[in-house]
Amino acid sequence: MCGIVGYVGVRQAAPILLDGLSRLEYRGYDSAGIAVRDEQSAHIEVVKAKGRLTNLMQMTDSGRAVSGTCGIGHTRWATHGEPSALNAHPHYSKEKRVVIVHNGIIENYQELRESLVRKGYTFSTQTDTEAAALLLDSYYAESSAPSPRERALEAIRRMMIRVRGSYALGILFGDQPGVLYAARKDSPLIIGRCEGENEGHVLASDVPAVLGYTRRVVYIDNLEIACLTREELHIYNIDGEELEKPFVEIRWDAAAAEKDGFEHFMMKEIHEQPRAVRDTLSPRIREEEGGRVIDLSDSGMTDEALSGVRRVLLIGCGSAYHVGMAARTVIEQLARVPADAELASEFRYRSPILEEGTLAIVISQSGETADSLAALRLCRERGVPTLAVVNVVGSSIAREADAVLYTWAGPEISVATTKAYSTQLAALYLVAVKLAALRGSIDDAREQALIAELLALPEKIERALADKERLQWFANKMAACRDVFFIGRGLDYAISMEGSLKLKEISYIHSEAYAAGELKHGAISLIEDGVLVVGVATQPELFAKTVSNLTEARSRGAYLMGLTPYGQYAIEDTVNFTVYVPRTEALFATSLAVVPLQLLAYYISCARGLDVDKPRNLAKSVTVE
Ligand code: M6R
Repeated sequence: MCGIVGYVGVRQAAPILLDGLSRLEYRGYDSAGIAVRDEQSAHIEVVKAKGRLTNLMQMTDSGRAVSGTCGIGHTRWATHGEPSALNAHPHYSKEKRVVIVHNGIIENYQELRESLVRKGYTFSTQTDTEAAALLLDSYYAESSAPSPRERALEAIRRMMIRVRGSYALGILFGDQPGVLYAARKDSPLIIGRCEGENEGHVLASDVPAVLGYTRRVVYIDNLEIACLTREELHIYNIDGEELEKPFVEIRWDAAAAEKDGFEHFMMKEIHEQPRAVRDTLSPRIREEEGGRVIDLSDSGMTDEALSGVRRVLLIGCGSAYHVGMAARTVIEQLARVPADAELASEFRYRSPILEEGTLAIVISQSGETADSLAALRLCRERGVPTLAVVNVVGSSIAREADAVLYTWAGPEISVATTKAYSTQLAALYLVAVKLAALRGSIDDAREQALIAELLALPEKIERALADKERLQWFANKMAACRDVFFIGRGLDYAISMEGSLKLKEISYIHSEAYAAGELKHGAISLIEDGVLVVGVATQPELFAKTVSNLTEARSRGAYLMGLTPYGQYAIEDTVNFTVYVPRTEALFATSLAVVPLQLLAYYISCARGLDVDKPRNLAKSVTVE
């Protein structure tokens, strides 16, 4: 979603802002803008453009045409008001007394607008953000604090009390050259300290934007305000008390966020899965005298706490929810604990029954998804212990959960998740096997066999990747199709959900996942010549049933692709094209079967000439509800 970058220091700000914004392009956006102030003239230059960042770069000669060493920039993903240069950020008050960029949503903007109009303010955009800019302006004008900085801090604090919703803000005050302010509630914000030729401070909504300049960052927490100059950084709470906050070192570097010779981030990330899954599993598997054991102590979750779990809720959105759907089955089968997968965006609205003994596992790549964060908070309010399975270190969900099991996927740039999905799954296999061992629902031999199978997964994912040329050929053949169904039963239905989402989000082909047995209860009426049906059949005991459902689809004219482990060759009698994946423990088959489905979606998107990494209308991190 929207991205924020700010800089104050010795260098020209505009090229740094544009570079930082380009590192956030993957988040999805439809317009962009910068505001840069020239210290000599105190003039703040604002330039905005609809569409890709290249438009803004052209308008500013890659930033060279806008002079000044202090500024803020933004990529906007429209919520209130159409995508346009006018609605793009920065937004500002008269004579640019206050200039802001904003991520999040000001929920009470209508009410603020009305009261500001009564005060004589006029609005020129349709955005919620403009209400925050003008509110800040009115409080700044009203303040009688002795210095400009105190006036600014007072105005920001008053604004934070008055607005409802979520925000990360970068703020310039027209009469304060060389000073940049920031404030946050429920939308991420970091500040990095730059040394050497870039000396100064950078502000950003996400780590990749600052990596070219520094790896030492401070995470701004909810209801905190920061004041940045070239030399100084001060952070305050909403009561105006100054806080001491530690700088942390970002472990991954800028190179991890580069394409590394691949045409798209998505393909690079698909290929990183063996490494990412290994990094997530191996450090948590320890050799002991009696065999291997799973050690989840790095998460902060004790064996004692896990032993007391009587029910598991797996909560997430999109692909993270699909991980929850698969993990639910694995946990129930192995640990014999009731488990449910919950859509975070629905969870709160049905007043969920949360009994004692429940463990809520919130799954999120970004750790910032608004609905997942809200579900986590609800669980915490209701006294339910929470475990986050998160990729982005220091993200809101990671920080607010009682325990965090990090997935070591590294930065995921492509909007369509691949390696984060695979590592979330791997992390939850660890939880399932650990729970089972603690509860005694599996014996030692089974535990050892499962752990051995987990350790073999990275190499098997590698092998699943080897079949990509055949998939590319098939994808080219299928690129023009209009409807695709993915069908499967049990775990295969969970895989189908992910395969279908991958395809629709990056190829714009209508696709649906259906529980294979449900097809004949309605959706089979949609099957006709030219519809592609992908049958996922990784579960031995369900194989024959899914093949029967494929036969029913074929009789109605569907073209069939089968996806099954090596050895299940009988499927060839029914389908037109088969993809085999290495054999593994059936409960872990999702990790292998998802790979061809990712590749299928990727190649179809390429064949259709689409923007694979930045699909239309989508954002990498969905920070609004
Ligand atoms: O950052 P999160 O894992 O919380 O994001 C959840 C979904 O928005 C995400 O999985 C989305 O569905 C992906 N684009 C799917 O590829």
